[in-house]
Order: sequence, then C-alpha cells, then structure tokens
Amino acid sequence: MKLRHLTAIAAGAATVLVASTAAIALPFSGGNTSPDSLRSVASKIGLRIGTAVTPFELDNAAYRQITGDQFSTVTPGNEMKWQVVEPTRGTYDWSAADRLVTFAQQHGQLVRGHTLMWHNQLPGWLTTGVSDGTITNAQLRDLLHKHITDEATHFKGKIWQWDVANEFFTDSNPSMINPNDFWVSHLGAGILADAFRWAHAADPHALLVYNDYNIAGEDGSNAKSNAVYAWVQQMLAQGVPVQAIGDQGHLDTQYGFPTQMAQDLQRYADLDLKVAVTEADVRTFVDAPTTQVPTDHLATFAQPYEYEQMLKACLAVTACISFTVWGFGDANSWIPGFFTGEGYACIYDVNLNPKPAYADMLQDLRLGALGATHRLA
Ligand code: G3I
Repeated sequence: MKLRHLTAIAAGAATVLVASTAAIALPFSGGNTSPDSLRSVASKIGLRIGTAVTPFELDNAAYRQITGDQFSTVTPGNEMKWQVVEPTRGTYDWSAADRLVTFAQQHGQLVRGHTLMWHNQLPGWLTTGVSDGTITNAQLRDLLHKHITDEATHFKGKIWQWDVANEFFTDSNPSMINPNDFWVSHLGAGILADAFRWAHAADPHALLVYNDYNIAGEDGSNAKSNAVYAWVQQMLAQGVPVQAIGDQGHLDTQYGFPTQMAQDLQRYADLDLKVAVTEADVRTFVDAPTTQVPTDHLATFAQPYEYEQMLKACLAVTACISFTVWGFGDANSWIPGFFTGEGYACIYDVNLNPKPAYADMLQDLRLGALGATHRLA
C-alpha cells in the first residue's frame, strides 16, 4: 500500500516535470528537474544530493531519467579507479569516466572523483609487479605520483570533490593507519600527505577529500573517528591540503544507528573542513537477491529511519555540502554480491519504484529547507 502510494507520487512528479519544465529556474536544476526532486528541494539550502553511477546503467532510460532528475552530483562507482583507467601499463582508458562526466555536464551536475589511492581495484600489472619484485618501492612511488597527476590532470576543472585517499584506517580499537595497507606497507604512512599534495598540484581547484567508512561513530566506540580526527589535525598542522572528510555511510539494520554522527561530522567541520556523506546505503536481510523483500518486518521501518538519521546529521552540520547514495536502485546495488542474504539497501526498489527511504529523504529535505542553514561549497 505504502509503496503503491509512493509510485503514485513519482508518477505525479513526472507529470509536473513534463508540464512545467520551462518554468523551473532553481539553482543546480539541470533542465528537466522536477521541483519536487531530491536535488531541487536540497538546492534551497545549497546541499547537493548525489548517487554513485556505473555508466552502463545510463543505457537504461528509466535509470537515466532518475539519475538526471533526482541528483545534483554523481560519483563513478568504479570507472575512475586505477584498474579501470589504466588496465595496461602506459595505456589509459578514460572512456567510461568521460561518459559520466559528459552526462553530468549535460544535467547540471557536479562530479565526485573516486578514488585516486586505494588498496583495492588496482591494475593486475601493478600488483603483480610489486609482488614479483619487478616494481621496486621507489618505482611504485613514482608510478603512484604519475597516476595521481595524470588522472587529476585529465579531469582538471571537471571534478568538484576528489576522494584522494580511501579507507586507510583499521577497524580496531584503538584505530590507526593500517600498517598492512598496500600503500602504507610499501611506502610508509607519509604517502597520504604526498598523495594530497600531488592531487592539489594537478588540480588546485578540486576539493580534496579523505574518504572512509565508520568514521562518524558507526563503530559505537568512536575509535576510527578519533583516529581520523587526530590524523587530519596533523595534516592541517603540516599544511597538507586535506580539505574535506567523506564519511561513506554504509549501514546495516542489524547494527543500529550511530548516535554520534552529527557531533562527529561537526568535529571535523570545526577544523574548518567540509564534510560529506559519500556512499550512503542501509542494508538488511532479504528473501532473495532478485526480489529483495526484507525478512524482518521491522526492517522496512528501520531501513528508511537510518537513511533519515544520516541525512539529518548532514543537515545539522552546515559544512556538510553533499549527501550521496551508493547507487539508488536495489537491482544494481553492490550489496547482494558482497553480503550474503542482504539487500534492500537503496532508496528505489528492484523495479525502480521509490521506497519509503526516498519519501523520508524528500520530507526531511523539505523540512530542512525551512530551517537548516544554507551551505556554501
Ligand atoms: O568488471 C568485472 C567484470 O569483467 C567481471 O565479469 C565481473 C565478475 O564478477 O566482475 C567485474 O568487476 C566487478 C566490479 O565491481 C565492476 O562491476 C568486481 O568483481 C567487483 O568486486 C566490483 O565491486 C565494486 C567494489 O567497490 C570493489 O570493492 C563495486 O562495484 C563498487 O560499488 C564498490 O565500491 C566501494 C567504493 O569504491 C569504496 N567504498 C566501499 C564501496 C563498496 O564496496
């Protein structure tokens, strides 16, 4: 009943869209944007609402329309990662990422670049070379410098926020920079500062982000948040251009909601950093990957509740400039492939109908537009 109601809302919004396109002149509106979309409502307080996109998904007309209508920033899910942009040593393939950047420009969207330095999704030639000793640590450092410089230069002027470094801290208590991380184990923890300096040199106008999960109190102990907070203070004291903190926001209803999120985001903001929620989704146990119906009735309430709590934390912090979901449709979510038995993590269902989480986000943005402080990117 509730979902049918939501579908009707979406259909109504589509009608308004067709009828009033020419009259809409909202900030960030990208041509066809409905005034009732997430992006339009959020634009009233200067907040951008984003989604991860895998460019092949844009071949689907319904998917493409929602991406353009609802979101004012996009993040490539995989297409700016080193494995994809340099599959063969010395030969770049920017085509998939370029396609998304073009889509964004056509739809009045900004792009979050993701990600310049991560232990995962590295090209095979690089990891093999390091493990068989044909790439020395000195060469590895030069290769990383070149990778960051070439990628940031290729997209120079087209990237709003760069996730320069991704997931470097341990999940332990206390947390620390992971000594076993691929980059840290070969090049030392100082490589983080170098990466930010290299990215800044290549594209001085992009906002440079440290991005990680569980860094706004999601682990309950605040251990990881404390570690990132201490590290970023050091970086700022050394003049390293870390300019924002991205909290990914991958939640699971079985673990509950992080009650510290607004305080932890504000703590980063008080260092004069921007903050962003960069990869929000909320997973739960489901019947099957194809249908993704929650097996626990309460999860249908808990899932949208946790989205709301994350969005409200962002709304409460004026330095929170974007709230990005990690894909919007359950059918294309990474969750069923990575967490056995789980799904229902997105704000649209497997048939691209908006779910309660979508309506709750829209409602919170409407209310937030009446009371939250305007943010400046
Ligand atoms: O491209 C190959 C394809 O050729 C092959 O047939 C297929 C077989 O499994 O795999 C394809 O690669 C997959 C790739 O996504 C592209 O679809 C990989 O197996 C799969 O592991 C990879 O997953 C990505 C994951 O990062 C890797 O860790 C997800 O799509 C992507 O959403 C996810 O994103 C990460 C963020 O970058 C960082 N934060 C966590 C987030 C979720 O893990």
